[in-house]
Amino acid sequence: MNIVVGVTGGIAAYKSVHLVRLLTKAGHDVTVVPTEDALRFVGTPTWEAISRHPVTTSVHDDVAKVRHVALGQAADLVIVAPATANTIASMAAGLASDLLGTTLLATLAPVVIAPAMHTEMWRHPATQANIATLRSRGVHLVGPAEGELAGGDTGPGRMSEPEEIVEQALAVLAPQDLAGLRVAISAGGTREPIDPVRFLGNRSSGRQGAALAAEAAARGADVVLVAAHVDAEVLAAAEHSSIRVRRVGTAAELSTAMKDAAATADAVIMAAAVADYRPAEVAEHKLTKEQGVLTRIDLVENEDVVAALAAARAGGRAPEGQIIVAFAAETLTDAGERRERARRKRERKGVDLLAVNLADAEHGFEQADNAVEIIGDGGGVVGEASGAKREVARAIWRAVIDMR
Ligand code: CTP
Repeated sequence: MNIVVGVTGGIAAYKSVHLVRLLTKAGHDVTVVPTEDALRFVGTPTWEAISRHPVTTSVHDDVAKVRHVALGQAADLVIVAPATANTIASMAAGLASDLLGTTLLATLAPVVIAPAMHTEMWRHPATQANIATLRSRGVHLVGPAEGELAGGDTGPGRMSEPEEIVEQALAVLAPQDLAGLRVAISAGGTREPIDPVRFLGNRSSGRQGAALAAEAAARGADVVLVAAHVDAEVLAAAEHSSIRVRRVGTAAELSTAMKDAAATADAVIMAAAVADYRPAEVAEHKLTKEQGVLTRIDLVENEDVVAALAAARAGGRAPEGQIIVAFAAETLTDAGERRERARRKRERKGVDLLAVNLADAEHGFEQADNAVEIIGDGGGVVGEASGAKREVARAIWRAVIDMR
């Protein structure tokens, strides 16, 4: 998404550096438009480095590209954080005295503001009247929060935390079509120990599962994310007040956590790569060459978790109308053969939807992009998507909603 972040002249401007970082990390294209006053708190080089776009405050730069209106026209969302009393007054009056002012007048995108000022200024009738005006025009407010303000006094006026601003701003754009639903998602790859230092594992990063969780939360769902060896950096994309993360290691731990979460879930998505086998015995101490070369490992089969969840549902041990989605990674490049295998797998596992992803050099494991085909009722293709994992997540949730 194209997001414009307006930054105005308050001490909370330093917190907006983190706000921009959260947005770019989530894959958005962010242009920062500071006011002259904002630059007294945080300078142009910081904004340019963090957003990777040139930054200017003036309507007289880049005139050939009609920058003073182009930014607003191209934006999918405009966030002003912090929004000072002065900026709020300018917005209410429709002033176009700088690039942020013209951008705000030129945009048709939703506008979200995060006010920051002293309590007295926030409570002043002038500010409150301006806020009422902005609200009546559809501007969304995040905060201000109560807390300690610059100068040591406390009260409403503190800018909300960047995480909360991002969450609420993105929720403005997302349809709330999963509101009230509880969902359980598994992500990552299990590790089956051989000895205290070795394991059998796989290359799943957990990115697709994290994207499914983030998309569900943005659309109003309550999410439990069961994460098997997912990097902190990947989990950061799924930071949301409606997402609870349960960390697990082995297939057995994942099974316990998913059964627990699925018992009350309206939708279950098994995006984790679960080991089909585990070593029959786990050595208590590290295996060494002194004991002889390790040339074979005896394996025993793990439970098929998603099939067990489907069986529990069939036995009435799940909420009415629960939808279960499984994934299948395929290296077969022939689409027909791939679909045939997927149909059989969907039947065998007893799930409603099977998202088949092509695991080749450009897609699937460890890659930012994914390509899936979603197999539904009667083995028909009910959806497909390729591109960013968030895009794929949208297609999967669309298929789940259609099915409900
Ligand atoms: N899965 C599971 N429990 C397992 C193995 C896999 O719940 N022990 C789930 C995965 O989370 C995923 C789907 O089943 O949703 C993937 O199945 P996959 O391993 O591809 O299917 P298999 O039935 O093992 O078939 P094959 O390995 O022969 O392709």
